[in-house]
Amino acid sequence: MKVGYYQYAPEFGTPGRNLEKVENCLAGVDADIIVLPELAFTGYFFEDRDELQELAEDVSESPTVNGLSRLCKNGNFYLVTGFAERCKEKVYNAALVIGPSGLLYRYRKIHLFNTEKEYFDSGDTPLEPIEIKGVKLGVMICFDWIFPETARTLALRGAELICHPSNLVLAYCQKAMLTRCLENCVYSITANRTGKETRPRGELLFTGGSQIVGPKGEVVAGSDSEEEAVVIRDIDLSEARKKLITENNDLFADRRPEFYAYNECPSGND
Ligand code: ACM
Repeated sequence: MKVGYYQYAPEFGTPGRNLEKVENCLAGVDADIIVLPELAFTGYFFEDRDELQELAEDVSESPTVNGLSRLCKNGNFYLVTGFAERCKEKVYNAALVIGPSGLLYRYRKIHLFNTEKEYFDSGDTPLEPIEIKGVKLGVMICFDWIFPETARTLALRGAELICHPSNLVLAYCQKAMLTRCLENCVYSITANRTGKETRPRGELLFTGGSQIVGPKGEVVAGSDSEEEAVVIRDIDLSEARKKLITENNDLFADRRPEFYAYNECPSGND
């Protein structure tokens, strides 16, 4: 399966222009699944909830979703993209899976980062993989990485490939994702943005370094901190179904969840 990402710098507050850029860059790309960054069309560093609500879109009447659906239909691929989602009075930092037939799936970020807590509502959708072209795809967004339970839950529920739209500003995630993949025996695609946003609340520099990681914790492909690039690789998803670490150790069957609960301890030797 051919999978990858588009690493770029969305321009704040211009969803139409960002959509045009994505359409131009991805037209004619030969791929099955392409991941875009978090909040890939609005930009990231909102001044307040009013500004966010103004830029967020309802998926049922979204020029962005309509444009991406057309792009997927023409290119015969699937996109996983960050998206500022308005739903009645709520606004979510969401990720959408869109294919040739349109919108298929939506995840709303459950671990909001820093000032996101001031203007986004907390996610309320389950960590439930979706099947695309015979592959179980899990979705998480940026800061979700720091809670190992996110990737673990997706993997325990069958995810083989974790798609991870991101707007990273800290320096730890890329290394941590090698461990997330190793400990769950899954592939991941972290699509991080590049560039800088200078906004009323300050300045943020995004760290790029998008990457495709394999189930042994190996980097299959990666980008530097600044380049804008579409990167696609052929990966063998059957590798993510081999959960044996040795002939006597199964990554999931060997778990001892009765020892993991922090608020109660199983009885010891007595
Ligand atoms: C982040 O969650 N955007 C750091």
